[in-house]
Amino acid sequence: LSIPEVNALGYEEFIDRFGGAVEHGRLVAAAAWSARPFLSASDLHFRFCEFLDQLSQAGKEAVLRMYPDLAGKLANSGGLTEESVREHKAAGLDSLSADEHRTLSELNEAYKTKFGFPFVICARENKKDAIIQGLKRRMENDVRTEAVTGVNEVKKICHLRLQDLAEDSTSKM
Ligand code: GUN
Repeated sequence: LSIPEVNALGYEEFIDRFGGAVEHGRLVAAAAWSARPFLSASDLHFRFCEFLDQLSQAGKEAVLRMYPDLAGKLANSGGLTEESVREHKAAGLDSLSADEHRTLSELNEAYKTKFGFPFVICARENKKDAIIQGLKRRMENDVRTEAVTGVNEVKKICHLRLQDLAEDSTSKM
């Protein structure tokens, strides 16, 4: 889809296509829609970022809570969104050893206990070892820093998803 084609989408079509760029984030796409016409692909992404940046602490935490734990319960039960499955594979999280799986689960739980929201990192830009290191390192942050850091990762995930969603000719239109 070219930018003129994106700009020509009706509201419902736009949400059908880009509503999942932020996980369960139709509201974010609905807000981005208000900024039409988009000047470029990076402008489209910027409009998603703009909405995320102006959220309160509670709003940022709410966005982070929409993301599944990496290699968590939802991944084990086959309950991930299509985009999430792809991100798990890219990071090598679909082929963890039992030890790696236990380490990641324990760190994810400790993180959620400390912050009250799940650890979000762009899985397509981080392999499993970098994810485990990132969890350990970011555990030391305070809750406000972590909300901003997590939302910055949401923006990276969103950027890659927008590219895929714009390209995907099988997506419903
Ligand atoms: N949870 C933490 N990071 C990610 C990610 O990159 N993708 C998805 N779907 N969930 C996550």
